[in-house]
Amino acid sequence: MSAAQDSSPSTSEQPFSAESYFATQPPPPTLDADVRNVRSFVSQQVAVGRKVVLVTSGGTTVPLELNVVRFLDNFSAGTRGATSAEYFLRAGYAVIFMHRQHSLQPFSRHYSHSTNPFLDFLELEDAPQEQTDERTVIDHARPIITVHPSDPEHLRSVLSAYKAVQKAGTLHSVTFVTVNEYLWLLRAVSKELHLLGRNAMYYLAAAVSDFFLPREKMSEHKIQSGKGSLILEMDQVPKTLKPMVDEWTPEGFIVSFKLETDTTLLVPKARASLERYGHQVVIGNELHRRKFEVVFVSRSSSSSGIVGYDKPGFEETWLRIDEKASAGGKEIEEDIINELVTRHLSWIKSVNT
Ligand code: PMT
Repeated sequence: MSAAQDSSPSTSEQPFSAESYFATQPPPPTLDADVRNVRSFVSQQVAVGRKVVLVTSGGTTVPLELNVVRFLDNFSAGTRGATSAEYFLRAGYAVIFMHRQHSLQPFSRHYSHSTNPFLDFLELEDAPQEQTDERTVIDHARPIITVHPSDPEHLRSVLSAYKAVQKAGTLHSVTFVTVNEYLWLLRAVSKELHLLGRNAMYYLAAAVSDFFLPREKMSEHKIQSGKGSLILEMDQVPKTLKPMVDEWTPEGFIVSFKLETDTTLLVPKARASLERYGHQVVIGNELHRRKFEVVFVSRSSSSSGIVGYDKPGFEETWLRIDEKASAGGKEIEEDIINELVTRHLSWIKSVNT
């Protein structure tokens, strides 16, 4: 049976709530193991009083078949998430890096297959022949591998930051591929981080599918192409920000992203998201300018935040970097993380005021 031929009733008239989603869609088989590892990482950070940020990164897929051959994907290389994770680590946070498998990762992103391909730095050199006595010659016929980076200083600084993070044990990675894996992981990891109260930050940079095929509507085998066009009716992915704020982690400092291709929509959409979900910050970014400018949208400090008491006001802060500075290696994520660290600190302090 293909998705196009499926006769099960559509749920489109009654969209999935987060609750009905988790009651009907199966968890990924690795969930329990992933949660155990996250729990152990979190308790190590709690023991030393370190703040923890969950960084989500990369796009989610929506498989069209149970034996998956085809899937829909969401655009994201994982640059924003991987870059931001490095700056959070530098700022003293422990990072849970929840990313799309094979997307960019902190540190190694500098030497990915497309940026500074690592093999291009390696050279093969003939090894010298060595004679130990009259009869024995050690034949080092196998060439020696030497490393010749184009910018040794850069490699040295990336490598030393990477080794320091490994030694400190402040980076923990968890992977997802499908939107289903993402949703289950997001809920489980948020609940684990709940333990940290206000010391936890959530930085949701992943590009998450808006539509999916519920398991019961998926074709078991590869959808056959012989019958002409393919018509899919997909269900809406439930919004997770609402349960995150209300149930999973009510004290966490939650930062979501809004991607648009029309800059004029960024602020109104970000405000609408804050009004609907009640979290702390939305960072708006336009597709083509996202490496040079972003806008922080949050509730203004003059607003009481009490529903029905006054109309919530909003404030916007634009962060911009020069395109020339960007070409010289400056990354806007450095400024984004500096700003968030400051805001997170005042959020933590505000608990007593
Ligand atoms: O990786 P790059 O190539 O550098 O690209 C980075 C980016 C442009 C993808 C990133 O900066 C970005 O904008 N990510 C959010 C994309 C978006 O518009 O998401 P959304 O409108 O579908 O969701 C809004 C927010 O809620 C996002 O923070 C998303 O992570 C989160 N979300 C959405 C749906 C859902 N079910 N769960 C979620 O957590």
